Amino acid sequence: MKEIVLATGNVGKLREFRAMLQGYRVVTPKELGLDFDVEETGETFYENALIKARALNALCGKPAIADDSGLCVDALGDAPGVRSARYSGGDDNDNIVKLLGALEGEANRKAYFESCIVYYDGQNIVRADGRAYGYICAAPRGEHGFGYDPVFMSDDLSKTFAEATDDEKNAVSHRARALVELKRKLGI
Ligand code: IMP
Repeated sequence: MKEIVLATGNVGKLREFRAMLQGYRVVTPKELGLDFDVEETGETFYENALIKARALNALCGKPAIADDSGLCVDALGDAPGVRSARYSGGDDNDNIVKLLGALEGEANRKAYFESCIVYYDGQNIVRADGRAYGYICAAPRGEHGFGYDPVFMSDDLSKTFAEATDDEKNAVSHRARALVELKRKLGI
């Protein structure tokens, strides 16, 4: 079975990639005993994904994939965007509290998740993008998922990503859509 190294330490993302890349052995730098920590200095999802995929391939010499993703909120000028993970300086719950505070009294709650995935094998760069549209609900709902899932009401599912099962989320998520495009571009 072909091996792909995935540039993440996020267990939520790893579970999603494994579910969607059946036929591949998706391994993490940690599982290979590698100490992988790259600063995400890019201003776009693509720049950050490319930085991570290149760095990981340089470290292990294997085909690498990296994704950079985040939540873009219309009324906040597409923030937190590339800064989604570090929006509040705290954990996922702190990020949600800050987001709901920033949107207090705001009627326009439209938002989308974006994912850019980059594959790099030392020679070829393959890029794929995906989006999932929805809105930010007034209070968290649901127990599944990670990050902003409890406050992201999906247009596709009419429930929050945290109320959805893994299979439901993987059918419509930004990462799933980017991954479908990546697989098509790689011919796998
Ligand atoms: P990354 O690991 O640099 O791509 O940061 C992505 C951040 O965006 C995560 O830490 C979450 O805060 C947020 N995010 C990205 N995708 C999702 C998702 O599917 N659900 C919830 N939050 C997400």
